[in-house]
Amino acid sequence: MTSLLSIRNVTAGYGYGPDIVHDFSLSLNESEVKCIIGPNGAGKSTLLKAVAGILKPRSGDIFFEGKNLSGKEAYQIMRLGICFLPQERAIFPNLTVAENLRMCAYSIKDKALAASRIKAAIGMFPVLGQRLKQIAGTMSGGQQQQLVYARAFTIKPKIILIDEPSLGLAPSLVEQTFSHIKQIASSGIAVLLVEQNAIKGLQTSGYGVVMDLGKLVFEKPANEVLQDQSLRDLYLGKALKK
Ligand SMILES: Nc1ncnc2c1ncn2[C@@H]1O[C@H](COP(=O)(O)OP(=O)(O)O)[C@@H](O)[C@H]1O
Ligand SMILES: [Mg+2]
Repeated sequence: MTSLLSIRNVTAGYGYGPDIVHDFSLSLNESEVKCIIGPNGAGKSTLLKAVAGILKPRSGDIFFEGKNLSGKEAYQIMRLGICFLPQERAIFPNLTVAENLRMCAYSIKDKALAASRIKAAIGMFPVLGQRLKQIAGTMSGGQQQQLVYARAFTIKPKIILIDEPSLGLAPSLVEQTFSHIKQIASSGIAVLLVEQNAIKGLQTSGYGVVMDLGKLVFEKPANEVLQDQSLRDLYLGKALKK
């Protein structure tokens, strides 16, 4: 069976600099959630950027639904169904909630379809429906987070790549954000997550992937990683010693 996403022996880096991601392979099936954990600077964000087409791999290939993504631009990759939520998951703070949702749906040519997607996104995050005319930047942090995920949902991707969703959030919003991610995953969208908060990330995922120095260290079912004390001590360090 071909995977939905197949990253094969990808090496990537910036400009004339050194390789940051080394010969990295990983696959993701439909509706699967995998969480990549690893120390700062391991190359996790770089890997997601390579999948999203923001950074061209130096070697290796990335296949999506059996199609090779090499040479495709980021916007083409998004249209194929891969949505990237970068670390700085910006919304447009000066636009209204409705405008934010419409901006995302612009990539859909069929207007009736775009409208129905927006409606479905609002159905998923009802508070946004009550605030369609509000300037997005004036909503609470929690509401802005909902808008981030509603926007992603609007383009109805097959995969969402999410970089550090909990970074910089208040503890109450961290819980809320992971429940949004679960909600998105249970709608059938596959998720490739990068997360510093290893416990929360693994609890949200089917598989845990450890990355260090640009390489894959291991991949295992997330509950195995959470339950195995030696794995915790060896690979997850302080993050899991609570
Ligand atoms: N835009 C960039 N230009 C040059 N080097 C970068 C850039 N972004 C990240 N790096 C370097 O790549 C390495 C890995 O970074 P990153 O992929 O962000 O790691 P992680 O997300 O695992 O913390 C770091 O050494 C970082 O300095
Ligand atoms: Mg990062």
